[in-house]
Amino acid sequence: MVFRIAVLGGDGIGPEVAAEAARVLEAVSSAYGHTMTFETGLIGGIAIDETGSPLPQETVSLCRRSDAILFGAVGGPKWDDPSASVRPEQGLLGIRKALGLFANLRPVRLNAALANASTIKPGVLEDTDLVVVRELTGGIYFGERGRRDGGRTAYDTMIYTEAEIERVLRVAFELARGRRRKVTSVDKANVLESSRLWRETALRVAQEYPDITCEHLLVDACAMHLIRRPASFDVIVTENLFGDILTDEASMLSGSMGMLPSASLAEGTLGLYEPIHGSAPDIAGKGIANPIGAILSAALLLRHSLKLEQEAAAVEGAVESVLADGYRTGDIAQPGGETVSTTVMGEMIAGRI
Ligand code: IPM
Ligand code: MG
Repeated sequence: MVFRIAVLGGDGIGPEVAAEAARVLEAVSSAYGHTMTFETGLIGGIAIDETGSPLPQETVSLCRRSDAILFGAVGGPKWDDPSASVRPEQGLLGIRKALGLFANLRPVRLNAALANASTIKPGVLEDTDLVVVRELTGGIYFGERGRRDGGRTAYDTMIYTEAEIERVLRVAFELARGRRRKVTSVDKANVLESSRLWRETALRVAQEYPDITCEHLLVDACAMHLIRRPASFDVIVTENLFGDILTDEASMLSGSMGMLPSASLAEGTLGLYEPIHGSAPDIAGKGIANPIGAILSAALLLRHSLKLEQEAAAVEGAVESVLADGYRTGDIAQPGGETVSTTVMGEMIAGRI
């Protein structure tokens, strides 16, 4: 069986970290006797520069004929003019929508070797192992928006259908069955109508999962509990914008944004896999970016799109073993400790598959 992987490096450090993730997938292929083909496509700022569009049609076609997508990052100061009509981020939002990638999984686990890297006290972090399921193709990101009064009034609309809410809730409940059987549904039902529909739907779907404990939290309280009792969470499920904000917050539990992977899933097995960090233009081209978030995203790709659980676990094990041996990129270095480059980190991990 040949697995076709699309590689969309994007901007900044995106191509550097995506290349290391591809390297690790190649190591998996040769160790386990799989065949993978890698084809690159343009997205984001570089796609604007080369084609005028942040998401060329050719990239959408490439993704559609692939089994999974490795994604780097998009954006940078070059394309940051707020009045520009095309922006790199439209490439990412566009591909999520075009491929129906409605469920974004962002696991946050504390790596024992990095217990002191977080700004939060180690005692609070102990046993933290959670995953946020963020709704990714609805809500205020995709609702009607615009300007009135000659530009002096602006509006964005948070809109959800019951069907959109239900399908992402089901992803969360199913995921919890393979974990610690707890779901925290997050909304703002004391204020927002879309959240009241979210809460009603969550209460109804929860009845079909009597084996799962379901709690409901308001998003502001959840933001607080995330840093107060992180270990008490198992699966958190929430709408698009709340999920965007809560996952940046949750990432700091692990010490570095450079460590965290994500999976964006559609109805079938197609998925897009990207580190949760951005394009980090300040360190692009220097060979110092941490490729671990991208490499752990490749592990999620093996697990969710290719259904290769053993291979996924091997990648996660290789990352742990390299960290346990003390290898660090700059962002997770001990004060005064030695660091390795992006490429060396990728090679070390690939070498242990
Ligand atoms: C993310 C990012 C994106 C988002 C941006 C780049 C559009 O912050 O994936 O979390 O807001 O979804
Ligand atoms: Mg974000």
